Amino acid sequence: MSPIFNHNNSTGLSVLGEMRKYKVWAVGGGKGGVGKSLISANISICLALMGYKVVAIDLDLGGANLHTCLGVSIPEKTLSDFLSKKVTSLSDLLTPTPVQNLSLISGAQDNIGIANIKHMQKGKILSRLSELDADFVLFDLGAGTSFNTLDFFISADKGILVALPEPTSIENTYRFIKSVYHRKLKSVEELLEVGPIIDQTLNAKMSQGAPVDIISKVSAIDQAMGARLKREIDGFRPNLIINQVRTQTDIDIGFSMKIITKKYFGIDLDYAGYFDYDATVWQSIKRRRPLLLEFPNSELVNNFDHIVHRLLETS
Ligand SMILES: Nc1ncnc2c1ncn2[C@@H]1O[C@H](COP(=O)(O)OP(=O)(O)OP(=O)(O)O)[C@@H](O)[C@H]1O
Ligand SMILES: [Mg+2]
Repeated sequence: MSPIFNHNNSTGLSVLGEMRKYKVWAVGGGKGGVGKSLISANISICLALMGYKVVAIDLDLGGANLHTCLGVSIPEKTLSDFLSKKVTSLSDLLTPTPVQNLSLISGAQDNIGIANIKHMQKGKILSRLSELDADFVLFDLGAGTSFNTLDFFISADKGILVALPEPTSIENTYRFIKSVYHRKLKSVEELLEVGPIIDQTLNAKMSQGAPVDIISKVSAIDQAMGARLKREIDGFRPNLIINQVRTQTDIDIGFSMKIITKKYFGIDLDYAGYFDYDATVWQSIKRRRPLLLEFPNSELVNNFDHIVHRLLETS
């Protein structure tokens, strides 16, 4: 049996930050269909099996399907009810799952796209998270780089990127990193003055220099501002998961992406690990049963165990 199921809860919890009650992990990535929902669901299950109280929130508004990966039928109440003020608290949306300690807040089933929710509505969701009785809140984000998706990713304590070992997905992942990075730097008030340099550097063509040059460019104008920027960049450490690997070459893509991200953007990407391509995934989805519960002896259980422990270590 995997160590997931034998984890001693008391040690893990004490590692959690003392400052806030819960941690938010966001699972995103530029491309659709790469396994974000499957991974959000099963990371949530792992954490819940370890004894943590977990709430998984489907923020793929307009394309919500996290409930299927968790073996739950379409919940009656969804984030739409919260956004349209039919319910007043996020706690009213909690739907139980087949896993003890794990609840779901389902995304909207109507046409509200994530790109369409207003700044205030986004703020309302984020500010009301503290009402939830949770150790971990997992965000399952939709595909794309809309500002709302980027903002939910940035707001998390830990941002987890999912990529497939294929060129289109890798390109999309870099695009997502660049968009998050850009949005994050533009949101820092003290850096407002150097906003045009940030825009120029991040929108420039390769031949005009890489985003990694941004600190030296800003420092040349204002050293204190350069130091502030460096602090911001050093604090941005997204995590990467490569999904559906079939070969060692696929696994190694994660290491190459780590090196390239550092060299090109100056960002430390933590390669949290990989998931094998496994036909049981498809079977579990077809049966509408959570993968880790339906196939507890699958190799994927070890993959999840490794990744979740790695993510906890870097919390
Ligand atoms: N490790 C895997 N092995 C085999 N198939 C997988 C694996 N991971 C994901 N899949 C397949 O990919 C499909 C898409 O997964 P999922 O819905 O989690 O992607 P997503 O990134 O959330 O998509 P979207 O962007 O549409 O929300 C799943 O239905 C499953 O069949
Ligand atoms: Mg999804």
